Amino acid sequence: MIREIITYPNKLLKQTSKDVTQFDRELHTLLDDMYETMLAKNGIGLAAIQVAIPLNALIINLPDEEEQQTRENLIEVINPKILEMDGNTVYTEGCLSVPEYYEDVQRAERIKVSFLDRQGNETIKEYDGLMAIAFQHECDHLKGELFIEKLSYLKRKKFEKEWKKKIRGKK
Ligand code: CO
Repeated sequence: MIREIITYPNKLLKQTSKDVTQFDRELHTLLDDMYETMLAKNGIGLAAIQVAIPLNALIINLPDEEEQQTRENLIEVINPKILEMDGNTVYTEGCLSVPEYYEDVQRAERIKVSFLDRQGNETIKEYDGLMAIAFQHECDHLKGELFIEKLSYLKRKKFEKEWKKKIRGKK
């Protein structure tokens, strides 16, 4: 089922998510719904809080070399921990909760992470490139942070002005 994605400045997005403790049918339905919702909106990542569920759960599905977004490349991440960060990289990010806005954001280039899968099994992985960037972006959602909070003061001011205009235009 496709769920509604909440958008900035919805206050729920600022909420800190809680660890998943039940690896049950409800969690699996949430993850399946998140996947359906993300694909419907052409996203490559989605955190549970973006569908208004404050749980430490996120999904990432990067396109392959042929630009195909296949389910085999889907990763489901429960209760993630970033263990190590290294290097610096800049990438033009976007977010389904801040639609149609894109801006350069600086993040660690490489990360080492631990997380659980939908059954509760732990894995430790090392990521770089877009995967590392997406992982950090989604983990920020779990802390109640959006990528626009990483912008410089001036860029943020410009964003707020444009965003207000955009929201007003939609009413
Ligand atoms: Co996002």
